[in-house]
Amino acid sequence: TQTVVTIPVVVHVLYKNAAQNISDAQIASQIAVLNADFRKLNSDYSSVVPDAFKPFAADMELVFCMATKKSDGSSTTGIERKSVATSFSFPNNYYQSSGLVAWDPTKYLNIWVGDMPNPYLGWAYLPDAAGYAFDGLAIGYNYFGTTGAAQYPYNGGRTATHEIGHYFGLLHPWGEDGSACGTADNDDGCADTPAISDAHYGGNVFPDNAYTCVPSANGAMFMNFMDYVTDTEMALFTNDQKTIKTNTMNGPRASLLN
Ligand code: ARG
Ligand code: ZN
Ligand code: CA
Repeated sequence: TQTVVTIPVVVHVLYKNAAQNISDAQIASQIAVLNADFRKLNSDYSSVVPDAFKPFAADMELVFCMATKKSDGSSTTGIERKSVATSFSFPNNYYQSSGLVAWDPTKYLNIWVGDMPNPYLGWAYLPDAAGYAFDGLAIGYNYFGTTGAAQYPYNGGRTATHEIGHYFGLLHPWGEDGSACGTADNDDGCADTPAISDAHYGGNVFPDNAYTCVPSANGAMFMNFMDYVTDTEMALFTNDQKTIKTNTMNGPRASLLN
C-alpha cells in the first residue's frame, strides 16, 4: 500500500520587474510550508485547529522537492526564470512559448509564479487536466512562500497548499460556487467536512454556524485548507480529503509515482 510519495516540483518564474523575480529563498520557503502542511507537521496545527476537529485531521503523506533532473537526465535546480513584457497576460499565456512551457506534466508538478491580477491569488487544475500543457498551479508572486515579496495576509504559503489540494482532486467545502445546501453540487465528497453554503473569509470564531447547511455543535470547519480564510487561519486537511488524494494518486495522477 502507498505511503509517503515525493513529488518533484518545477517553478517557472515569469517576471515583469525585479520584485516579481522572486528569490530562490522565497521559493524554498514555499516548499518548506508544503512539507509541513502535507505531513501534518505545521506548527500552527494545534493552536488553529479546535480540539473537536483534531480527530478528523490527516497526514496527507506527500513530500515536495525541487526537481533535480530534467526529463533528459541533466541536472537542474527546478527553477526557471523569464522576463516578460508588461503587457504579458499571466492568466492567459503563462504556459505558452511567450511564457515558460511545462516540463512533462505527467512527471513534474509545474508551478508558474507571476503577476496575478486581482482578485486571484492563484488557481490549479483538477486531476481531469492531468497531462495537459497547462496542468499544474499558477500563483501570484506576492502570495507565494513566506519571505521576500510575499504579502500579508497571504504570506503563509497557504495559497499553494490550497491549490495543491485542488490538483489532487479536493473541492471547496461548499462544492460548486453558488450551489444551494442539499443540492448535488454542494458536495466536496467528504463526510468529515461539514457542508456549508458559502466560503469563510477570515475572522471566524469556533463554533461557527453562519454557513453550515445543518447547524451542529462544532459548526463549520472554516480552518480547513480548502476554505478561503487567510493564511494564519487555515491548518488542516481531513481523512476523507486524504482518501480523495490517494484515489487521485492511484488514478489520474499515477504517473507521478514513478
Ligand atoms: N481563491 C483561491 C482558490 O480558490 C485560493 C485561496 C487561497 N487562500 C489562502 N488563504 N491563501 O483556489
Ligand atoms: Zn480553491
Ligand atoms: Ca463535506
